Amino acid sequence: MIDSHAHLDDEAFDEDREEVINNLKSDGIDLIVNNSSDLPSSKNSVELASKYENIYAAIGVHPHEAETYNDEVRSELIELSKNEKVVAIGEIGLDYYYDNSPREIQREVFKKQIELASKLGKNIVIHSRDASQETFDILKEAHEKYDFTALIHCYSQSVEMLEEYLKMGDYIALGGAVTFKNAKTPKEVAEVVPLDKLLLETDCPYMTPVPHRGKRNEPKYVKLVADYIADLRKIDVEELVKHTDENTKRFFGI
Ligand code: NI
Repeated sequence: MIDSHAHLDDEAFDEDREEVINNLKSDGIDLIVNNSSDLPSSKNSVELASKYENIYAAIGVHPHEAETYNDEVRSELIELSKNEKVVAIGEIGLDYYYDNSPREIQREVFKKQIELASKLGKNIVIHSRDASQETFDILKEAHEKYDFTALIHCYSQSVEMLEEYLKMGDYIALGGAVTFKNAKTPKEVAEVVPLDKLLLETDCPYMTPVPHRGKRNEPKYVKLVADYIADLRKIDVEELVKHTDENTKRFFGI
């Protein structure tokens, strides 16, 4: 199966990155999309994707790092996007929980990267935390101007907003958070999201699913997310994964 969102370039994997990657196949993980947070991590993602057949890359500047985005970074992202393993721009968006970059700059850089993605003919992977309405408003306006599809990663917004995203043709991804005891809304979302609009992810090394919560997350734990959602929906996990894998390939054009 596929892990549609990982950060294998993260320093949490510095000790055993090769081992984790070499074990993917025996762990039952066929493909990974490695997401980026800034220019250096975009370069690392492309390097991993170039080196390993089963890794693809999303490149871009995360809202935490929005202040690092400039014309030079934009040009370098355009260069990197020429690599055929680069399948999306991400993760980009808004994070008003940590506010690591000023909100005005986050919004500006988010909009600029949506425009860049549409220019490059790539879809986008969205990070949104404590900014659901503004994220939605920016995407709605962008959908009217540009041609792209968005994937709302680690979806934690309401069921009502999900309906609005679906109307725009967007996708959502769910990960370890659905397994957390207090995660009422992600569970509701997991039950109702159409099977042709859902992707599965780990966001490793973060968001480790139960029962490994507190430890480093790894791509292989995406299976725990699949089991959990299949249980919630009362369907076979094979059936669920057949859809989520197909959706991932369709969304990223793999
Ligand atoms: Ni992420």
